[in-house]
Amino acid sequence: MLEVRSHGISKNRAEFGPHNLIAYNRGRSDLSTRSPKDIYSMQRRRFIKSVALGVYSGSVINSNQDSSPTEILEIRTRLSNLRPDPESFWRFVQEQFPDQHNVLHLNCGSIGISPNLAIDAHKKLIQEIESNPYRQLFGGGIGSKLDDVRQLAAKFLHATRDEISITTNTTNGMNLVARGLRLNPGDEVLTTNHEHAGGLACWEYLAQRTGIKVICLKMPLSNPDEIVDAIARQISPRTRVLSFCHVDTITGDVLPVEAIAKLARNSNAFFLCDGAQAAGMMNVDVKKLGVDAYVTSGHKWMMGPKGTGLLYLNSDSREAVDALELSAGMNVYTAASGVQNVAAISALGPTIEFLECIGMENIESRVRHLNGRLTNQLKASPKLKRLTDVENIHSPGIATYALNNAPGTSHRIAEQLASEFGIYVKATQSTFGSVASRKTAREDYNALRFSTHIFNSTAQIDSAVERLTQLLS
Ligand SMILES: Cc1ncc(COP(=O)(O)O)c(C=O)c1O
Repeated sequence: MLEVRSHGISKNRAEFGPHNLIAYNRGRSDLSTRSPKDIYSMQRRRFIKSVALGVYSGSVINSNQDSSPTEILEIRTRLSNLRPDPESFWRFVQEQFPDQHNVLHLNCGSIGISPNLAIDAHKKLIQEIESNPYRQLFGGGIGSKLDDVRQLAAKFLHATRDEISITTNTTNGMNLVARGLRLNPGDEVLTTNHEHAGGLACWEYLAQRTGIKVICLKMPLSNPDEIVDAIARQISPRTRVLSFCHVDTITGDVLPVEAIAKLARNSNAFFLCDGAQAAGMMNVDVKKLGVDAYVTSGHKWMMGPKGTGLLYLNSDSREAVDALELSAGMNVYTAASGVQNVAAISALGPTIEFLECIGMENIESRVRHLNGRLTNQLKASPKLKRLTDVENIHSPGIATYALNNAPGTSHRIAEQLASEFGIYVKATQSTFGSVASRKTAREDYNALRFSTHIFNSTAQIDSAVERLTQLLS
């Protein structure tokens, strides 16, 4: 984990990775003399031109760093030049996103905002496809390069291309793995009451249809060791699956995934990790985590096109997951998959390249800095209490606060923040799963969840705190 600095960006050159230095040498020297706005307009013009020439649709999906699209190289160069000045660096990053007018988006945990270059690529790809769909999909056009996006995604998750499948979202990945595991009546799945509905529906379905047993651990627990102990205590000879999120969707806490993976290995259980709230917020290395399967959404913290997702399965887990959808291979288009959303999947490519050229360590550090600024200010509020109080478990980008008012207040406050000030946060009303039996009442936290991402500014954070304080007073 990176050291957090007050300006939210480390000065360590190595963090930017060797490819950035290569890009710097190759970059255009005139960039440094222009303002970020000039650079941005110039990039947009060049970008649109390159797309119009059909360059982008090819290079988007080219895994080779040296042949990244021109605008990615330019953004990378510009970021290298701005590195000594964090304020300008992050302002430039914010300028890569659409003008949010009077909207202050602090709910990336639900849905992200795409960078302009991904939006432009997506639009252009749709146009190109529609101008000649058969050629673009089946005649050696855009469709023939789709699997190169898997290469970019693989690098992003520290896996190999063969281990990555493109899905439509996290829920889709969860469903695919859950059904593919071919569980039998009485098999046990260990999970928590804090998993998102999209991480639980598959198990509830199998409980009803197949008779598997779903055991939900009650969260939150007060430290990572307690979580590991609670899981270890519940593992039985019938345990076939451990299904846990990487980052808790309610509290934003990071689960001890590596330790859980060890438990899974030792007990011969399959570990499916739901990374919806992690990929794009923090550096995710699936190999280091040691999971059997990892699923995430492209449209949340990764800020890609809506309706995209990633599934990681290593060669062993591929054997364990007998999914019809993957029976003809992991490629984007197979006999078992049929035609996919080619434009959205292709546009996920430049989104990942964008994240990479900023650097996931830098992103994580910035996200943490913004979240720290928010939490430092909210600490003083007598009406708010952080849902969990364990420092070493908090994720970089999510902080959730319970309101000490009547149940349901969080929804009213979230609505007021949106309607009066254009500030979007998530009202977290209750747990998704139930403990012990499906009849157990769900817990109502009456809380607000704040997600901070790189398209947010420090001024936005301060403004959100001010408005919230105003509403609560
Ligand atoms: C942990 C977790 N899993 C799954 C989902 C569902 O994501 P999607 O709708 O992209 O499938 C969410 C959504 O917020 C989530 O937080």
